[in-house]
Amino acid sequence: MALRRIVEQGEDCLNKKCRPVTEFNPRLYTLLDDLVETLSEAGGAGLAAPQVGVLRRVCVVMDEETEEYIELINPKIIFQSGEQTGPEGCLSVPGKWGLVTRPNYVRVQAQDRNGSWFELEGEGLIARCFCHELEHLDGHLYTEHIDRFLTDEEVEAYFSQEEGEG
Ligand code: NI
Repeated sequence: MALRRIVEQGEDCLNKKCRPVTEFNPRLYTLLDDLVETLSEAGGAGLAAPQVGVLRRVCVVMDEETEEYIELINPKIIFQSGEQTGPEGCLSVPGKWGLVTRPNYVRVQAQDRNGSWFELEGEGLIARCFCHELEHLDGHLYTEHIDRFLTDEEVEAYFSQEEGEG
């Protein structure tokens, strides 16, 4: 495993549509392991392959309930419902946050590292994360959905409010 450099907004690979994974081989396993290690080191909620310069439909998402990383290959959203608006950040846009409206519930279909298809669902924060990471695979960033970045005070207010709600 190795840490990879996280590319930042403005670099071309973040604006490209990624290609599907067709070969489930050691090269893919290394990419997945590196994504997990890089995400773990950076302390984010999710990381997509284009964020480390690899234009393949691969991402990893942190499951806060189990504290495990979910590997998603060729993922797609097959059902979504509801709506949530909240602060969102991205490791490729360091130190910034913006308000984004997303579905509150999504069901995702994806392949695991062996190529087997599975489905999973998420609500709230992890649903937001699935949407954010999948969007990366089509070359989009959350910043396309915001009017402006939040101020530090606004970000603090949002997160302290969430903690208060338990
Ligand atoms: Ni991101």
